[in-house]
Amino acid sequence: MSASGKEHLKVLLRRSAIQKRVGEIGKQITRDYRGQRVHLIGVLKGASIFLADLVRTVNLEVSLDFMAVSSYGKGTRTSGEVKLSKDLDTSIEGLNVILVEDILDTGLTLGYLCRVLKQRKPKDLKIAALLDKPDRRVMKDVHADYVGFQIPNEFVVGYGLDYAERYRNLKDVCVLSLPPE
Ligand code: IMP
Ligand code: MG
Repeated sequence: MSASGKEHLKVLLRRSAIQKRVGEIGKQITRDYRGQRVHLIGVLKGASIFLADLVRTVNLEVSLDFMAVSSYGKGTRTSGEVKLSKDLDTSIEGLNVILVEDILDTGLTLGYLCRVLKQRKPKDLKIAALLDKPDRRVMKDVHADYVGFQIPNEFVVGYGLDYAERYRNLKDVCVLSLPPE
């Protein structure tokens, strides 16, 4: 049985606003690292679309890598458990690393990834998150250096973000309302 008929989507961030903000972040990164190389690490799969757009607005020497974690399972609530399911292909020692994530929610995922990456001695480690839900933060010491939008405590999909692997292809970021369980 498909529940999709009962799910409701409401646009929160339009594609035009997202494109504009992504361009601003790219310019900011370009200014911050002038004359240097940056190594962008995308957190699969949610950050893939943000990363693809962001990297094309960064006017520097850039390299890419990806990591994958699982923290949410199929639902909308965090399990509190983070597992590294795909590691980097290459060393990050001495590199200016920017960890690119779709959303900073409780902070468990990024907190965990930052701990793992710091042990590998990058020259610099920053976080770029398209979305930030500050009300949900559990890891109070996890902050994003580059944030697209602060959003209220609602479950959102689109522009890479999913609900049970669906909706990643939406061009806008939308609030998803689910039928009562
Ligand atoms: P955190 O570890 O709680 O900060 O959650 C980070 C991960 O949870 C993100 O990378 C997303 O995959 C997922 N997540 C958190 N909030 C949402 C949401 O509103 N929509 C879709 N995925 C979300
Ligand atoms: Mg994710």
